[in-house]
Amino acid sequence: MKIGVPKEIKPQEARVGVTPAGASSLIQAGHKVHVQKGAGLLSGFSDKTYKKVGCVINDKIEEIYHFAEMVIKVKEPIDSEYPLIKPNQLLFTYFHFASSKKLTDAMIESKAVCLAYETVEDDGKLPLLIPMSEVAGRMATQEGAKYLEKPQGGFGILLGGVAGVKPANVMVIGGGVAGTEAALMAAGLGASVSILDTNLDRLRYLEITMPSNVTPIFSNPFTIEQEIRRSHLIIGTVLIPGSKAPKLITKNMLDKMMPGTVLVDVAIDQGGCFETSQPTTHDDPVVIKQGIIHYGVTNMPGAVPNTSTIALTNATLNFALELANKGWKTACVENQALRKGLNIIQGRVVYKQVAEVFDLAYTDVSSLIIN
Ligand SMILES: NC(=O)c1ccc[n+]([C@@H]2O[C@H](COP(=O)([O-])OP(=O)(O)OC[C@H]3O[C@@H](n4cnc5c(N)ncnc54)[C@H](O)[C@@H]3O)[C@@H](O)[C@H]2O)c1
Repeated sequence: MKIGVPKEIKPQEARVGVTPAGASSLIQAGHKVHVQKGAGLLSGFSDKTYKKVGCVINDKIEEIYHFAEMVIKVKEPIDSEYPLIKPNQLLFTYFHFASSKKLTDAMIESKAVCLAYETVEDDGKLPLLIPMSEVAGRMATQEGAKYLEKPQGGFGILLGGVAGVKPANVMVIGGGVAGTEAALMAAGLGASVSILDTNLDRLRYLEITMPSNVTPIFSNPFTIEQEIRRSHLIIGTVLIPGSKAPKLITKNMLDKMMPGTVLVDVAIDQGGCFETSQPTTHDDPVVIKQGIIHYGVTNMPGAVPNTSTIALTNATLNFALELANKGWKTACVENQALRKGLNIIQGRVVYKQVAEVFDLAYTDVSSLIIN
């Protein structure tokens, strides 16, 4: 199959759809990979490295879209890419259709096949979202530690303390993918960590897998209110699938915290789980309210594109290989996880929630892929 990897042109996006290692696997499987000049540079991959594994480098984005039967990207196409997309072309990337009618309309119009990373679903899990949650969770602790420093406006405490000095108290609310990684990082730095979740099975799992300086606790408003008084760093990673994040820390709870406490709201991309959070960017990541530092970057993995790109390709590559080897139709007939990624096929919306959000006609995917 002819595969194209364009340079991401959405502002602040430094990742790339395929690493040289991923491209090498696709080429070894007999496929042709064209990569746009400079596409991997911000993730740490030179054109020379792509060339070495057999990729062809194209100067212009137009050439990539013109060549490709499958385009592998990171972010949804933006306005200037819409006219480049060809009917029947397979687009394999994050789309997040429900957040943009304009994008949905444009992709319907393009008659392309849109397979969205975020809805590929395997046994109830979202394998192409997990790596970004892992990165964001780990970064949450790293960023939190930084903003706890006095020059940043923080409490002035070292997460691990030193000999004879108590470590910082870290509360992680939400013990899923991101929360587990955040807690592990904080524990590794020597902090005293509590991790809260409402799912008892998850708490049991955390109890037997977490190091001894992490205490899993059942999450409820009473416990959160108690814990905020002693926590120096609070990381919010709750997710209720299909809903906005619940506001677990309210505005009137801020004055119960120690001045210089840091709140990192990883769930900000779903509206945030702290009432006073607001979306921020890597250029200006924090706002201080009532002496409490709020970090609310909506695209945390974007700050570490090398790690994020490699983690993403590790997760997408087997799916990309299957799509390239079998063609999207057969691959989606044979692989239920991939089939769930199909959102729009040649002008028809085949993902129910997207059709519902925008009141568009819905077509059952099986009627289009199973003869
Ligand atoms: N800001 C970013 O850059 C970024 C990057 C990646 C992911 N995210 C976001 O991070 C959030 C977490 O993602 P995830 O993959 O870890 O989700 P997940 O489903 O693995 O974990 C969410 C956890 O929250 C728990 N939970 C639900 N309600 C709770 C409550 N009231 N109290 C405590 N725990 C509760 C669930 O039981 C679950 O274990 C999502 O909103 C995701 O969109 C943000």
